[in-house]
Amino acid sequence: MALREIIFLPEPILRRKAKPVTKFDKDLQTLIDDMIETMRDAPGVGLAAPQINLPMQLAVIEYAEQEDDEENEDAPPKPKKLYVIINPEITKVSDEKVMGVEGCLSIPGLLGEVERHAAIQVKALNRHGQPLKLKLDGWMARIFQHEIDHLNGVMFTDKAVRVWKPQEDEEVALD
Ligand code: NI
Repeated sequence: MALREIIFLPEPILRRKAKPVTKFDKDLQTLIDDMIETMRDAPGVGLAAPQINLPMQLAVIEYAEQEDDEENEDAPPKPKKLYVIINPEITKVSDEKVMGVEGCLSIPGLLGEVERHAAIQVKALNRHGQPLKLKLDGWMARIFQHEIDHLNGVMFTDKAVRVWKPQEDEEVALD
């Protein structure tokens, strides 16, 4: 496995619609493993292929939902869930929308407040080309929307109601 170089705005590939993946060969498996390693190294909670300069409809996501319940603050962290999504499509969205703070590995030094659907359903292929259907809510739904935007050339700053440079103590998961 190897780390891949993450690219930043204004690299034009970040603004292009990525192409569907059609070959599920050994090279694709190597690329996916490299993307997972690169995401973990960054560290980030998601990474889309255009962020490593490849115009492919492919993203990796890894996140552990936080415990919202304050009384449960000392509860052990939930296990991280890893997803590989290929040629994804959002098939259903909740009417309810929620605001949240996002950052992006391809826009260092900027955070933004972004409204996203609270829950979504996604159709995609897994790393072996088999169909996947996912129902997502919470922060996971937000990460998926951020990543699928990347595959369409959309950055979070396009949708943010405001953006700012983070304070030193301001920590946000990046993807
Ligand atoms: Ni991003």
